[in-house]
Amino acid sequence: MQGDVHAGWASGHNQRMAEVFVTRALPGDALARLRAAHEVTVWDRPLPPEPAVLREALAETEGLLCLLTERVDRALLDAAPRLRAIANYAVGSDNIDLEQTEERGIAVGVTPGVLTEATADLAFALLLAAARRLPAAAADARAGDWRTWEPARWLGAEVYGATLGIVGFGRIGRAVAQRAEGFRMNVLTTADHPLDELLERSDFVSLHVPLTPRTRHLIDAAALRRMRSSAILVNTARGGVVDQHALIEALNAGEIAGAALDVTDPEPPPPGDPVFSTPNLLVVPHIGSATHAARARMTELSVENLLAGLEGRPMPHPAR
Ligand code: DGY
Repeated sequence: MQGDVHAGWASGHNQRMAEVFVTRALPGDALARLRAAHEVTVWDRPLPPEPAVLREALAETEGLLCLLTERVDRALLDAAPRLRAIANYAVGSDNIDLEQTEERGIAVGVTPGVLTEATADLAFALLLAAARRLPAAAADARAGDWRTWEPARWLGAEVYGATLGIVGFGRIGRAVAQRAEGFRMNVLTTADHPLDELLERSDFVSLHVPLTPRTRHLIDAAALRRMRSSAILVNTARGGVVDQHALIEALNAGEIAGAALDVTDPEPPPPGDPVFSTPNLLVVPHIGSATHAARARMTELSVENLLAGLEGRPMPHPAR
């Protein structure tokens, strides 16, 4: 039913060992600390456990280290009566029903800070790639369609000095703004401009809000209509912040010039989904935090959270 089982043994201190389930093999070596203190089972397959399998696996579990691919909802929590601590391997927590965990007294932790710069780098990489049409130019070159230096082909948008609208001005939004300074961009943020005005004035719009009931489909058909026909939308936040159907229609109708998505709704999109065939739409597979350093630090923070939660101490990085 499950992947390899790695049992750890308590050493030195008198803390009772708890059963812990980790829903994927994680980069870095911090899991060793968890194994030294608790009985740890790691689901080490590449794909997430199916919900029914996860429910079964959590029957006796007190600690859960999970990913954004796992829905921690009422049904899962009902199947895990002994669960006391959840460490989410992400800064976002929209995969977890936090009202339910709060009601049941289950501590929940996340991984803030350590992926800020990596995610801001990716947002900027997507912005530049979409502006300068890198996917199309690279595909043409690879296909042998680089016949000569062409004055009027592969033309894109100038980034230097353009206006960047940042929707959500938390840690990652601010890190994106710092990068924009180097390009002498005029930065508008939702901290000091209404969203409609920001959409109307921006050449590039980059999304950095968490997914909540309030931000679901924040960028809908009406919002897309407010954007300039030359504008490019970048989303490294959560797929659900954008009405993807409306985005595809807007791109097909030329209402905006392009979009670059690190996140989609759903993830992954099913084979044949229009996100893979819509013109001027660049999609990468949710890799904002995918640097060796960030992912190893995320493991460390998750382990710190879980160790604290299982010991009954406040988690160092609580979800809220
Ligand atoms: C997060 O942390 O919320 C990212 O989306 C994955 O690193």
